[in-house]
Amino acid sequence: MPWATAFTKRLGVNFPIALAPMAGVAGGALAAAVSEAGGFGIVAGGYAKQEQFLPEIEKVKQGTGRPWGIGFLTWALERNPRALDAALEHAPAAVFLSCGDPRPFAGIVHDAGARLICQVTSLPEAALALEAGADVLVAQGQEAGGHGDSRRGTFSLVPAVVDLARSVPVLAAGAVADGRGLVAALALGAAGVLVGTRFYAATEALGHPAAKARLVMASGEDTVRTRLFDIVRDTGWPERYPGRALRNRLYETWAGREEALRAHLDEIRPAYQAAAAAGDFDTAVIWAGEGLDLVHDVQPAGEILRQMVSDAQACLARVNAIHRPPQKRQRNTEEDDWAW
Ligand SMILES: Cc1cc2nc3c(=O)[nH]c(=O)nc-3n(C[C@H](O)[C@H](O)[C@H](O)COP(=O)(O)O)c2cc1C
Repeated sequence: MPWATAFTKRLGVNFPIALAPMAGVAGGALAAAVSEAGGFGIVAGGYAKQEQFLPEIEKVKQGTGRPWGIGFLTWALERNPRALDAALEHAPAAVFLSCGDPRPFAGIVHDAGARLICQVTSLPEAALALEAGADVLVAQGQEAGGHGDSRRGTFSLVPAVVDLARSVPVLAAGAVADGRGLVAALALGAAGVLVGTRFYAATEALGHPAAKARLVMASGEDTVRTRLFDIVRDTGWPERYPGRALRNRLYETWAGREEALRAHLDEIRPAYQAAAAAGDFDTAVIWAGEGLDLVHDVQPAGEILRQMVSDAQACLARVNAIHRPPQKRQRNTEEDDWAW
């Protein structure tokens, strides 16, 4: 049975679960699988390079007839605004923008008939996105995998953004990885969730199999927010954005010694690129969030989504049981006093 929230109604999907537009991970096959399962699949437009995202748009169009979206890093779009027009020619249901001021692009998105989804990390950013006319806000806490300059936890940020956004639906992002997280987000007033790390460990995700294997083995405590990998990768990320990633040997070697790292970049950069190409994650980065404790296997995205929905239903039933009038409860054991 489809769920009805302000988000599902606005985007025309069955379940309030959106795929995060993860650069290098959320390609067309993953986005199509999420949309086919009734969620909202978002293809990563990442660094706004047409040669990278246009083939993935073709794949999502081949893989699903249901609504899908495309996500860009706003600072990258500022450097190549034509990427937005190229994406809009393919009629995405929504354009997702994060990490930058969405206002210069909002009119272009709306004129093309697409919805605008803005990921925000603070109340001032949320106000800016509302001023831009965002149709959906995503409140990203600092637990989230990948980049973001949030200094807030998901649990406190989401209800604050919900109160500010009023009739504009808000998705919660950051360590939502199972049905409990979905229910918690709804309880905080969100109209759904944006899920990254859990879908990284999906069969259809573009990530290297060795990276997915590490995700399954790791816990949230193995993650760290850092700029170190971006100093090495040289992808143009503005200084203000750290990213949450798995600790690895490169991190342990250079953490706290960024100046020394910069002095050695001539040797380290080529070695990093070779490691990334070879799938050597002692050196190459794996972006991932604190929800990793809940990632136990690599599964097809449709399975992950269906499991999240059915776990959420079971979780809601447990929560509802707390509220049942005492005379209707069957309390046979002392333990019942403590069980939900
Ligand atoms: C591997 C990875 C890559 C990401 N790449 C992007 C990106 O290209 N653009 C973007 O807006 N967000 C990106 N994010 C952040 C997501 O939009 C989202 O905020 C995050 O995944 C939610 O937290 P979670 O990973 O705990 O589910 C990325 C996250 C991960 C894990």
